[in-house]
Amino acid sequence: MDYQRILEDIYHEILPFAKEGIQADYIPALAKVNPDQFGMCLQTVSGAVYTCRQADTRFSIQSISKVFSLAMCLSIRGEELWKRVGKEPSGTAFNSLVQLEFEKGIPRNPFINAGAMVLTDILLSELEHPEEQFIAFVRALCGNDEVDYNMEVAASEREKGYLNAAIANLLKYHGTIENDIEHVLNFYFMTCSVEMSCRELAQAFIAFTNHSPFDYCGFRLSSSRIKRLNAVMQTCGFYDEAGEFTYLVGLPGKSGVGGGIVAIYPQRYSVAVWSPRLNIKGNSVMGMKALELLTTRTQESIF
Ligand code: DON
Repeated sequence: MDYQRILEDIYHEILPFAKEGIQADYIPALAKVNPDQFGMCLQTVSGAVYTCRQADTRFSIQSISKVFSLAMCLSIRGEELWKRVGKEPSGTAFNSLVQLEFEKGIPRNPFINAGAMVLTDILLSELEHPEEQFIAFVRALCGNDEVDYNMEVAASEREKGYLNAAIANLLKYHGTIENDIEHVLNFYFMTCSVEMSCRELAQAFIAFTNHSPFDYCGFRLSSSRIKRLNAVMQTCGFYDEAGEFTYLVGLPGKSGVGGGIVAIYPQRYSVAVWSPRLNIKGNSVMGMKALELLTTRTQESIF
């Protein structure tokens, strides 16, 4: 398959959508990003790498970080994890409070903000140096020690984090989180602030693509657990647009409000795409289009 040619063709085909959508503007650090950027990187399990445009520009991975937190928590807690957080699609926005109140403080899945805070809480309880160990794990997955938190993004998330603070309070009220609300929020915002490029994300997600047993920094996952992690991405990776992404793209994946999306074609390739302009559900407009065209062109999807 001539992936290089396909990526270039896709880029030209989606150019008419280049001005559609608006970038995340809930914090100044994201509002000031140039919205007219696009990058894409596809890496096969055999190590071939294909890039297009700004594949090496780092951006805020935001909710894509929730996949890394889930991998660590599944490694630590195994199936017990699912007593604290569900694995059903939410059908609601990633920061919705309504469902959490209705369901007595048990988040629907680990990829909505409430669910990711439960993961954060588990990491705080279980790890000796959570911030260091989290970033070390991400660096090991992508093979680059320069990947880091962006402290400016984390600080402005904290400053403007009224809704996330409400979620954390509701979780604490229901006894779903053990640690102090402030600690949980601070660490949650740190994980969201990590910056990576499409090339680094595609490399990091190869570990979830090739289904061979996984051991990074002592966090181990069997191939069966990796399969299940992919299942959660498929059903819950795009919040109230999970059905649409499955329908249009047909791959498990995860998005973030920084405009990044990572998707996996199990046992074949991982692909990361980034463009800051978002649709009303918070997913990258050009990213969704690019991945839709990728699986249409290649006729490679899990369905
Ligand atoms: O907590 C938040 O709301 C943001 N830091 C992350 C949200 C996000 O990326 C949701 N994804 N699409």
